[in-house]
Parts: sequence; structure tokens; C-alpha cells
Amino acid sequence: MTPLLELVDVRKKFGAVEALRGVSFALAPGEVLALLGDNGAGKSTLMKTITGIHRASAGRILFAGADLASHDPGQIRALGVEMIYQDLALARQQDVASNIFLGREPTRRFLGLPLHVIDRARIEREAEAMIRRLGARVPSVRYRVGDLSGGQQQSVAIARALTFAPKLVIMDEPTAALAVREVEHVLELVRELKRQGIAVILISHRLTDVFAVCDRAIVLRQGRTVADERVAETSMNTIVAHIVGAG
Ligand SMILES: Nc1ncnc2c1ncn2[C@@H]1O[C@H](COP(=O)(O)OP(=O)(O)O)[C@@H](O)[C@H]1O
Ligand SMILES: [Mg+2]
Repeated sequence: MTPLLELVDVRKKFGAVEALRGVSFALAPGEVLALLGDNGAGKSTLMKTITGIHRASAGRILFAGADLASHDPGQIRALGVEMIYQDLALARQQDVASNIFLGREPTRRFLGLPLHVIDRARIEREAEAMIRRLGARVPSVRYRVGDLSGGQQQSVAIARALTFAPKLVIMDEPTAALAVREVEHVLELVRELKRQGIAVILISHRLTDVFAVCDRAIVLRQGRTVADERVAETSMNTIVAHIVGAG
């Protein structure tokens, strides 16, 4: 199968610092990939290079047939790459529906012309549809995001990402700050994205999460891919050995 995303010997230098020294891997459509590695291994730099925030110093990044080297972050997002940052970037004072459509609220039309009035009924309807599509447990789209639990906020961030019709969702440590009983719910959301044919790259330190939902795991060490393994065919000990450099 043609990969959705393919990286070939990607390198990134910040002045004298070589954050990425040769990263290669391919991701199939609908595949869930874990990105693992110790602090400083290059995980965040790699994701920012895929989303266009950083420009690779060398190597190739292909997504859905396009060479991303010439694309800016807006164009890469339009191609179908969504990144959910660890801080989620939500407006805590606003409700769920507003957060899902933050910055691009549908406006009413009058005689075919857009009126610059936000169509609140439509926002709520579409936000509810997104939440339902995800099977997320958010009590009402009128709840203030700041009043929701960490797992529910994570659901809102994922629902927001879905409104861009992504082919790939990148999640940075989505379960790191969650209560134990909320982790399973977020993992269920990852499985739901996969069922919908959306590929996921999951950055996580929690190997139990990785083994629960990921198809494959790659490990970065000092800016290089040092392992690329099918989760069903490896063990936590093997992965840990790769992360710490004993493998
Ligand atoms: N903007 C930057 N300028 C200079 N060095 C950076 C920058 N971003 C990251 N680095 C360096 O690149 C290396 C990889 O960092 P990072 O990608 O944040 O790793 P990780 O996310 O795996 O913890 C580190 O040595 C870090 O200090
Ligand atoms: Mg990081």
C-alpha cells in the first residue's frame, strides 16, 4: 500500500545543534504509530518538522503524494495533518461548541450573502454531531471547557481536529496529565479515529498506552530512528532497551 506519510533521512539543525540526524519511517493510512524516545531525543522537533513549523535541513517528507518541503503550516493542515498539542490550546472560558469551531464560526446567510452574525444554532448542532461521531462523553456542548475534566477537554480538542477532516492526527502526550480512569477513555478515542480510517501518531511515555492502542512503535535516540517495530511482535523490555540505548 502507498504510505500516507513517508520520511526519508530527515535532518534538522538548529545552528550547531543537530536535533534530527536521520529519521526515516513510513505510515500507512489508518495506522496508529507510537513515537517514543527519551527527553531531548527529537520527538517534538520531528513533529514540528512534519507540520511545517520547522523546515527540515535535509531529507524528504511526503504526505499523500505531496512533498511537504515547499509547504507552510496552513497548507500542510489543508492537506490533512492535525496536531493536538499537550496544552490543547483551548479557550477555557468558552463553551464546548465555541471551542470546536474557534476562529471559524459558521455565519448565517441572507439571500446567499454571508451575514457577519455567528450562527449559534448551527455551531451547537455541528458540535454535537462531532461529539457524537467520536462517542465522547461530554455532558453538553454548552459546558464551559474549563469546567470539564482533563479527559473531556482532550475529547474537545480531538473533536475540533476532526472538523478539519484530517487524514493524520498527531497527539503529544494526550494521557500524561489524566487520572487513571480517564486514560482508557482517551485511548478509546484513538481507536475511534483509527476505525474512521484516520492515522494517528501518538507521542507517549506510557508504554501501557502504546501497547494498548498502537499498531507500531518507532523509537528516536539522539535524533535518529533506532527502532521500528510492530507492537504485536515486540515487548516493553525491548522497547525500553531501545529508548535508553541498551538495545
Ligand atoms: N528551537 C530550538 N533551538 C535549538 N535547539 C533546539 C530547539 N528545539 C529543540 N532543540 C534541541 O533539539 C533536541 C531535541 O529536542 P526535542 O525535539 O524537544 O526533544 P523531545 O521532544 O524528544 O524531548 C534537544 O537537544 C533540544 O535542546
Ligand atoms: Mg518534546
